[in-house]
Amino acid sequence: MCGIFAVTKQKNAADTVLNGLKQLEYRGYDSWGVAVVTHNTFAVEKHAGKIGASVHSLPQSTMGFGHTRWATHGGVTDANAHPHLDCTKRIAIVHNGIIENYQELKKSLKKRHTFRSETDTEVLIHVIEENLQKNTFVETVRHAFQRLHGLNAVLVFSAEDHTLVAAKTGSPLILGRTKDSEYLFSSDLASLSTIAEKVRPLEDGEMVVVRNNTVRLYTLSGKKKTLKLATADALFSSQKVDKGGYAHFMLKEMHEQPRVIRHIAESAQQKNTTELVAHIKHAERGVFVGCGSAYYASLAGTALFAHFAQKQWSAVQGNEYHAISPALTKNMTALCISQSGETIDVVEPAKDMKKRGMHVDALVNVMGSALSRLADTTIPLTAGPEICVASTKALTAMISHLIVLASAVGRKCVYGQGILKKAEKSIETLLTPQYYKRYLAPVIPLLAKQKNMFYIGRGFSYPTALESALKMKEIAYIHAEGFAGGELKHGMIALIEKGTPCVVFAPDDAEYDAVVANAMEIRARGGVMIGISSKPNSTFDIFLPVGDAQEATLLPHIVVGQLLAYYTAVRLGRDIDKPRNLAKSVTVK
Ligand code: AGP
Repeated sequence: MCGIFAVTKQKNAADTVLNGLKQLEYRGYDSWGVAVVTHNTFAVEKHAGKIGASVHSLPQSTMGFGHTRWATHGGVTDANAHPHLDCTKRIAIVHNGIIENYQELKKSLKKRHTFRSETDTEVLIHVIEENLQKNTFVETVRHAFQRLHGLNAVLVFSAEDHTLVAAKTGSPLILGRTKDSEYLFSSDLASLSTIAEKVRPLEDGEMVVVRNNTVRLYTLSGKKKTLKLATADALFSSQKVDKGGYAHFMLKEMHEQPRVIRHIAESAQQKNTTELVAHIKHAERGVFVGCGSAYYASLAGTALFAHFAQKQWSAVQGNEYHAISPALTKNMTALCISQSGETIDVVEPAKDMKKRGMHVDALVNVMGSALSRLADTTIPLTAGPEICVASTKALTAMISHLIVLASAVGRKCVYGQGILKKAEKSIETLLTPQYYKRYLAPVIPLLAKQKNMFYIGRGFSYPTALESALKMKEIAYIHAEGFAGGELKHGMIALIEKGTPCVVFAPDDAEYDAVVANAMEIRARGGVMIGISSKPNSTFDIFLPVGDAQEATLLPHIVVGQLLAYYTAVRLGRDIDKPRNLAKSVTVK
């Protein structure tokens, strides 16, 4: 989703900004722009499309800023790309978030200002311009920002004053300082790791002013605060983020899964896990909150907590939190799950639950992110940076941690570690060239020509079916639906036609016979059954054998789902790591 990058006191500010934007690319965007301060105004370059091998033609400057835009208000055009300037071209803005009251603000400005874009962002720059005569630049920005509704992060620049104001009520924004005392801003901690020595993520309600290379921190109500920068997170500074010889980040990240799972199994007794186990044990009830794949991990969590610990937890998609929040009480505990830790639909519920006095814990991959900062206890996923938009190793890490937690609450910690190690071994086999050649390669041509396909599972395998269908949709752009096997007869079976492929997740557990019976029902209507199991069955037209790992079998099964989606997408020539329309970090509602 939208990304901001800015630097002050750099001889070649535009180069640094363009490099910074390239590091934000993985978040997902559809247009970009860079600007520098020059002779009391700005030189700007903006383009629809990807940065690719673009070079800029901007002059040398000591203050530069840029933006990657993921369109919300207005189409993907050069004009709608940020930065935006006021009518006098003396102030400029880059913005993440949504200005919910932009239409109302725009109404009163339209007669006196020229709008050059369809964005909500441009409204703010004209509000500032309109009021600039009455107050200082910094105070004008502060007052104007306070008039906005919604969750926003902005950087506003004055070319005349050589001043930058950063303000935030939502969306990530991190201040960094290089060893040469240059200041940087980015929406993404990882993008600062190689250049910033110290960092300080801004909290909602804060404002930073940089002028003459001095930096000051304020609240949005104008109160001065002490600014302490901390050493950039060791996790990111120590890890090289490249493809490591793999064709795509997704392939590399899938191959990292056995190591990630082993590490989680081996570090199951860590302090934060023990703390979280205590919270879960003492809570009357609990709720998981997550979006997309993290929601599917949450669904797996409900089944794992019930099975191992006889704890009845519910799972809610962060964006539907409002529907259940009236029933929450302070005796409940929450576990928020997020790879990025910046998904606004998870961060906002977490804040609300804290206000209600609930215990709010988190499973997060990006330490230093908003969710990790606000949770009472955070377990780091330790999956390492995940660059591909489609989540793989972060999702299997989430489920592995949930297995550790559930088995620990149910006093079966050693058993939990044992099944994770079995899952690790099973996944290693799936990732071999032999497995690809013998089992996956023959099935990919069939999948690649489909318009629709289905995935079914029961119990632990229901989230597996949902997750595998999501992977196929996200990167191969094939319409794929995941169902609970038992739901078929309640409607979905009407969609089965001769030749429709249906992937059946059939672990060797209590649900095996039932899910095979569901597969038979589909087959009887012409569906082509692709069975994923350790146990072959005559109902499967195609059989993909997967080593059993007891209750952790969903992990290798999810990996088969990933591999089917990956190789289908490769065959279709899709943009694997940056699928169309998607963003890695969803920071707007
Ligand atoms: C997964 O492949 C997706 N890209 C997406 O559903 C993702 O899981 C979701 O947006 C949540 O992101 P988070 O884990 O960073 O909160």
